[in-house]
Amino acid sequence: MESAGAATTSAGVAGEGPAEGAQEAAGQALRPHAEDAFAAELAALAEQDDRPRPARWLLSPWAVATYLLGGTLPDGTVITPKYVGPRRIVEVAVTTLATDRALLLLGVPGTAKTWVSEHLAAAVSGDSTLLVQGTAGTPEEAIRYGWNYARLLAHGPSREALVPSPVMRAMSEGMTARVEELTRIPADVQDTLITILSEKTLPIPELGQEVQAVRGFNLIATANDRDRGVNDLSSALRRRFNTVVLPLPESADAEVDIVSRRVDQIGRSLDLPTGPDGIDEIRRVVTVFRELRDGVTTDGRTKLKSPSGTLSTAEAISVVTNGLALAAHFGDGVLRPGDVAAGILGAVVRDPAADRVIWQEYLEAVVRERDGWKDFYRACREVSA
Ligand SMILES: Nc1ncnc2c1ncn2[C@@H]1O[C@H](COP(=O)(O)OP(=O)(O)OP(=O)(O)O)[C@@H](O)[C@H]1O
Ligand SMILES: [Mg+2]
Repeated sequence: MESAGAATTSAGVAGEGPAEGAQEAAGQALRPHAEDAFAAELAALAEQDDRPRPARWLLSPWAVATYLLGGTLPDGTVITPKYVGPRRIVEVAVTTLATDRALLLLGVPGTAKTWVSEHLAAAVSGDSTLLVQGTAGTPEEAIRYGWNYARLLAHGPSREALVPSPVMRAMSEGMTARVEELTRIPADVQDTLITILSEKTLPIPELGQEVQAVRGFNLIATANDRDRGVNDLSSALRRRFNTVVLPLPESADAEVDIVSRRVDQIGRSLDLPTGPDGIDEIRRVVTVFRELRDGVTTDGRTKLKSPSGTLSTAEAISVVTNGLALAAHFGDGVLRPGDVAAGILGAVVRDPAADRVIWQEYLEAVVRERDGWKDFYRACREVSA
């Protein structure tokens, strides 16, 4: 009976507006939505932003970019950076949303595609929850609309019996819709988006009606480079998108910066103590990940084999966060090599046979010889045995 409702994804239901009890508990959400977590920053930006705003945008494009990249407002309010990367990329992404083209964020795993999409929707529309999660099983109803079968049977087809998808709601309210992992969605279902994006309308043949997008509507899709070839976008659909490729962090310093910022934020939300001492370990995790990912040591002298895992920035963040939890609960609260070694091993060795050999070689040839890495080498040896 609930199948039509379920087809609109649970995010669609959450978007209906949280119940009162849920609203009270919102401050305790394990992971608050971007618009709630950064409500104060968004309010300060809205107040001091005197540039022109596109229809129904809460902020001007300039203020949206400042929200993402960080900065200091005239009254001294500090806006924390959400995305660390080339400014131009963010400017192009934000500008796209103010045009009649949709935005496609493309990149390898862990390059903050989902993260950027959420923050863009939060800053532009104040709501990042109009979300369709793409999977191989995503049905057309998840992008268009479904039916509440109890109402359909009782009263026949009507607007009351219709369950709008997050995309339909974004169209009628002039908001930003999000589609995650677009290229995992079967090609024929993807193509439902063509009419929506080119004609800006969603026909409801059962009712002889249509929903026309109001100004302010746009869509952000994300797609993973690694999924290329799974369900490639048809050229008709691709033409409706401006593609922005999110790069891997350009330098080790930039990556260390991203990891320590995010670990600090996540750690605070989990009530983990964060000490400045962790920075050495973060640097080591990032160095190991980058060297194995690039297939060469930082000094360019030793060629390495790359393991099968992606070793993304996102994984470095979770290795360090887990390490901090270990240090907090079973150590003295200071992040040490022993706290991250097991996490690194788990991220590197995905394929127990091939990756283990690659890891052992790296450990003996590179880690062992490196100045100041003795304790780290010992910790890794211990967990690898
Ligand atoms: N350049 C960056 N700036 C800020 N945060 C970043 C950056 N790169 C990665 N991150 C962090 O990495 C984490 C994971 O990012 P996210 O889930 O958005 O990646 P993704 O590109 O969607 O990956 P996937 O392809 O696996 O879905 C986020 O917590 C994000 O903060
Ligand atoms: Mg993602």
